[in-house]
Amino acid sequence: MDAAADAPALNVPFSHQETLTTDRLLLRPFRFDDRDCLARLQRSPGLARFLLWEPPDDEELDRRLEEKVHATLLVIKGDRLCVAIERIGQPGLIGEASLVIESADDACLEVGYIVHPDVAGQGIAREAVRALVDLAFTMLHAHRVIGRIDARNKASAKVLTALGMRQESHCHSDQFVKGEWTDEVLFAQLRSEWTAQR
Ligand SMILES: CC(C)(COP(=O)(O)OP(=O)(O)OC[C@H]1O[C@@H](n2cnc3c(N)ncnc32)[C@H](O)[C@@H]1OP(=O)(O)O)[C@@H](O)C(=O)NCCC(=O)NCCS
Repeated sequence: MDAAADAPALNVPFSHQETLTTDRLLLRPFRFDDRDCLARLQRSPGLARFLLWEPPDDEELDRRLEEKVHATLLVIKGDRLCVAIERIGQPGLIGEASLVIESADDACLEVGYIVHPDVAGQGIAREAVRALVDLAFTMLHAHRVIGRIDARNKASAKVLTALGMRQESHCHSDQFVKGEWTDEVLFAQLRSEWTAQR
């Protein structure tokens, strides 16, 4: 048997400047004029409770926006593709999502996402993340897509479960975040599972 035929191969370098369209959403590259919306999003009270970062001050906001505007190319581990989430016909970002290379050798990508609390519970995260997972398995030839969440983040767990991801592990008290030990839960989906669920 030709083992090389089964070897994972992420389709990189991968440059993505296009806008993805779903039923209700546009997932487009970030622009510098997103600054006010990004501030409203990332400074929403309680939004960062289960995240590794804190709401940004002005300087940090500029740094994050600059990084997102340029996050359109995936080549090596740690590279990030960021998209602004907008409702079709309603300009102004209501969320953001990303794909990060976890391992190019193992063809593994990680998804990330945040949605403004004003529009929570409407399936926005699910719809946006589904589009990125589809992109990962189709255009990027991913073998595996993962999501890492704080175990207390029930809404986020629902998003990943609804997309057909499996919980693979629950690490107890493995991260010291914002002054306390927290549990990290890992979700994953294989290409074969994604294909079977379509
Ligand atoms: C987690 C998050 C992305 C979910 O976004 P969303 O657009 O509301 O997600 P969806 O509407 O697609 O699905 C959310 C599900 O969780 C439920 N939910 C929402 N808030 C919840 C809460 N506080 N506790 C439990 N379930 C909750 C919704 O009712 C929905 O469940 P349903 O499918 O049974 O109706 C959003 O709450 C968020 O941005 N949180 C802060 C940032 C964050 O935690 N990001 C994820 C990092 S891993």
